[in-house]
This record gives sequence, C-alpha cells and structure tokens, in this order.
Amino acid sequence: MDAQAIIDSLEEVAERSDDPAPQVYERLFARYPETEALFIGDTRGAARGQMLRQAVETLMDYLGPNIYAANFLRAELRNHDDIGVPGEIFPRFYHAMAEAFAEIAGDAWTPAMQAAWEDLTGQIEQIVQVPARTI
Ligand code: HEM
Repeated sequence: MDAQAIIDSLEEVAERSDDPAPQVYERLFARYPETEALFIGDTRGAARGQMLRQAVETLMDYLGPNIYAANFLRAELRNHDDIGVPGEIFPRFYHAMAEAFAEIAGDAWTPAMQAAWEDLTGQIEQIVQVPARTI
C-alpha cells in the first residue's frame, strides 16, 4: 500500500476542511442507512467527531510504527458489537472516509490516492476478520 499517498490525501483534506466529519457520516449513512439510528444519542455530533479522529489516528499508526492499530481495531470491534455495530461495517467506514475525502480534495485527489485507499479498505477487511479474543 502507498502510505505516502494516504498521508498526502489527508494533508489535502486538512488544507480544505476544518471538519470533514459531516461529509464522512453523510456518505456512511447514505450507503448504510441502518447505521444512522445508532447515533441517535449523539445529538451534537461529539461522538461522531471523536470516532473519526480516533479512526484517523489509528490509520496514522497503521501507516507508521504500526504498534497498536490492528489490536485497537479488534478491541473496538468488540466494544461496538455491544452497541449493535456489525464488524463488517468497519472497513466500510474507511471507505466512506475515502469517498468524503475525495470529494473534499477535488482535483487534488490523484489515482495513487484512490488506489491507496482501496488497498487500505481491503487491509482493514482482513484485520477485522480476526477477532481480538483469538490473540
Ligand atoms: C475505525 C473504526 C472505529 C473506531 C476507532 C471507533 C471509535 C469510537 C469511539 C472512540 C467512540 C466513543 C466516542 C465518544 O463517545 O467520545 C465510538 C462510539 C460509537 N461508534 Fe465507533 N468507532 C469505529 C467504527 C464505528 C463504526 C463503523 C460504526 C457504525 C457505523 C460505529 C458506531 C459507533 C456508535 C453508534 C458510537 C456511540 C455513539 C454515541 O455515543 O451515541 N463506530 N466509536
């Protein structure tokens, strides 16, 4: 996976948007309408914002030192299972991020960025297939 392309894409987004969260969740809810109801208690969007920040932080670890990303994702799978979030949505969340970020980056979004995000989504799919309790 082209980690630099993902980092470049995040920089393009940061330059253009103070808060990409609304677009990310718009994409997620459009594709997976059943997920919107899960956030009914998050009236001010604080949990949604925090979740996206954590997802990006985890991504930065994964692209860099890769110390905790996989285990953290698997632990979150279990936490989220308790609130009714199916694990297979996790890679889709990264996919929704890619779609929203591409929209925000506009012309600055390159084929290399697109390919890197597709690779990433595939790798997250692999990670979440291994439940934390088997480690
Ligand atoms: C990389 C993947 C994910 C990470 C790291 C993550 C992380 C988090 C964190 C840290 C919180 C607590 C936020 C807070 O209350 O401050 C949270 C809450 C939540 N997450 Fe996630 N999450 C991930 C994926 C997902 C996905 C894919 C869904 C389903 C669409 C989801 C649904 C929720 C819901 C419903 C809450 C509770 C919102 C509320 O308090 O009302 N999460 N998540």
